[in-house]
Amino acid sequence: MTEKDTFYLTTPIYYINDLPHIGHAYTTIAADVLARWRRAHGDRVLFLTGTDEHGQKVARAAEAGGLDPQAWTDQIVERWKATWAELDITYDDFIRTTEERHVLPVQHLWQQLYDQGDVYLDSYEGLYCVACEQFYSPEELVDGLCPIHGRPVETVREENYFFRISKYADRLLEHYRDHPEFVRPDTRRREVVSFVEQGLQDLSISRSSFTWGVPIPWDPRHVMYVWVDALQNYLTAAGWDADMERFARVWPADYHFVGKDILRFHAVTWPAILLAAGLPLPRTVQAHGWLLVGGEKMSKTKLTGIAPHDLVEPFGSDAVRYFFQREVAFGQDGNFSWEALVERYNADLANGLGNLASRVTAMVERYRDGVLPGPGPATDAEVAVQEAAGRAYAEAAAALEEVAYERALAAIWRFVGAANAYLSERRPWDLAKAGEDLALDTTLYTGAEALRVAALLTAPWLTRTAPALWSAIGARGELAEARLPGDLAWGGLPRGARVERVGALFPRLDAEGNVARRAG
Ligand code: ME8
Ligand code: MG
Repeated sequence: MTEKDTFYLTTPIYYINDLPHIGHAYTTIAADVLARWRRAHGDRVLFLTGTDEHGQKVARAAEAGGLDPQAWTDQIVERWKATWAELDITYDDFIRTTEERHVLPVQHLWQQLYDQGDVYLDSYEGLYCVACEQFYSPEELVDGLCPIHGRPVETVREENYFFRISKYADRLLEHYRDHPEFVRPDTRRREVVSFVEQGLQDLSISRSSFTWGVPIPWDPRHVMYVWVDALQNYLTAAGWDADMERFARVWPADYHFVGKDILRFHAVTWPAILLAAGLPLPRTVQAHGWLLVGGEKMSKTKLTGIAPHDLVEPFGSDAVRYFFQREVAFGQDGNFSWEALVERYNADLANGLGNLASRVTAMVERYRDGVLPGPGPATDAEVAVQEAAGRAYAEAAAALEEVAYERALAAIWRFVGAANAYLSERRPWDLAKAGEDLALDTTLYTGAEALRVAALLTAPWLTRTAPALWSAIGARGELAEARLPGDLAWGGLPRGARVERVGALFPRLDAEGNVARRAG
């Protein structure tokens, strides 16, 4: 029998009614970092992202843009892919829900649920938010408006097919109890449990007032509700039901990364569908908080989105990948602030890692003509740097097991700080003046080796700087081929390596985000 051998992680598939903003980038970068971290450990990884292309929200955007929905999505999906390329997102698969590979399995699965009696026809009236593509009960509204978008909801009165989700409430509760890791963080899990404990209302899974969707196979007057079509993307990309051999290697998903806005769909609706289909449930639905602008969720609908490109241009993609993960504890909301971005950029990247790199490589050039000397015997100071490296990895690995990116980065930057402090204490310029050649060799080697370790540890975030650093210090092979933790073993840099002086990896920025003029 084929067994699961693939670490499978997903982002939400995004509505392409509009262009991506840094909220979407936030989730996608989080998944990308974890994918890269796992690949660096030699794991086989399937990292999936994509676009949610059906439903009224997209259909209305297309209409406003004067295109039919397929032409609209064909055009806009390229802009999403370009954004992910700009941020160095290494997805292994990009799914579009309008693809035939997806439409067919959706019809198969729902035909099965219909045939087994989990679906029935009923008439329905409810309050619908098109921006959420979701019904709300009157109590859930805030001042009569959608609680997420603050916009009016629409009254929908229709004959719909319904999924008997109510039937699965007990089995869901049992699953939450037996698998506390199913919803993370724990506060979110408790919200989900108490929601389900109140009982579930059957879910409308079809619409007949518009046609932009997957046709219901047994009744083509209806199209599938966009959310049930969308959730199934995770199965499609794993191979269900076209390639069951592949499916067995990939499913269940290890992580569904989602914003807290769509947690219920992932932690309640989705597992209920899987239970009905007799399929295993994903291991963890990992909810994170929102990036806020002026205290509110940054959103396409509210036009408060900041385009990733507007940050990549001044700061570079590495800084964007770094900043959001370092600044906001994953799971919490965080206000986006330009000042905080400039401050972290200068403190952690320019003064921290950038400074370490330029000092070490400049001194190897100045004192040893760019040829790395071998080290003399290690003193306590060198042992302390080595130990700091080991600790940084152990702490980062433990933090990433819990997807606590901010803790992982804090641990790695404690090591960068320790290496900078080591250089300041050893005062290699004084050793050079005093002619203490062996001590100078040891210091230069230790500094360069610290850079090698820093490149290995920061590689999932600093996708451009880390490889540049790796080759500047003359490390062997390609950074992309290096393996953790094995290649972290101290002493990997060969004596005699050619070291090139690196300029400012992260030029200091002033408060407006412009490259600061050099003092002196
Ligand atoms: O909900 N802060 O798509 P969507 C953090 N198509 N993350 C944010 C964010 C913010 N301000 N704004 C958006 C949908 N996100 C459905 C998903 S999945 C089967 C279908 C991120 O375009 C976050 O991950 O509205 C959120 O859950 C997702 O974008 C919603 O994207
Ligand atoms: Mg949304």
